[in-house]
Amino acid sequence: MTYQIGEVLFSEEQIRKRVSELGREISRKYCGKGLTVIGILRGAAIFMSDIVRAIDPSVNVAMEFMRVSSYGNGTDSSGEVKILQDLENPVKGRNLLVVEDILDSGWTLHRLKEYLLQREPASLEICVLLSKPERRQVEVDVDYCGFVIPDKFVIGYGLDYAEQWRHLPAIHIAKPVEEAPGR
Ligand code: XMP
Ligand code: MG
Repeated sequence: MTYQIGEVLFSEEQIRKRVSELGREISRKYCGKGLTVIGILRGAAIFMSDIVRAIDPSVNVAMEFMRVSSYGNGTDSSGEVKILQDLENPVKGRNLLVVEDILDSGWTLHRLKEYLLQREPASLEICVLLSKPERRQVEVDVDYCGFVIPDKFVIGYGLDYAEQWRHLPAIHIAKPVEEAPGR
């Protein structure tokens, strides 16, 4: 199955507004404290860059990145979660905020949470841009969620189909090509 860029689900303006709301919530919680924000590559790269800039200077923010793989080049979970790139610095005793693009089956964040808790952080919270509750196989508590969406494959604003379309500024539905031949 191949896809094309379908309708806009969330515009740049809607995303901007929601990201600044989330930034304010995070700022209130961590005002005067240290916070290590862990962006999950590659899907959360764009969201991460916007969310950290929405956090107030009163929070002492450090940025880290991890890369995990749970999906191949398709749209379905392989169930397995592999750590392809780990944290660079120790996080023991630190407040952690994991920033992820989307909570789908839940396996990626479930495993990641287990993995990070083993490192004995002072606290661990999760911020996702999107959540697809209909797809959940394992429950994961998230502390900040941008938007709840239906069970549709989405692209743009960091999200890809086979590495395509991460750079689109808005979030779109990925539309199967068969549904619109010749366009
Ligand atoms: P799980 O199933 O582990 O999946 O919660 C999280 C990862 O799945 C990918 N994913 C998507 N990527 N459009 C995408 O571009 C989607 O609609 C979508 N749904 C799940 C994503 O990489 C995420 O990190
Ligand atoms: Mg992906």
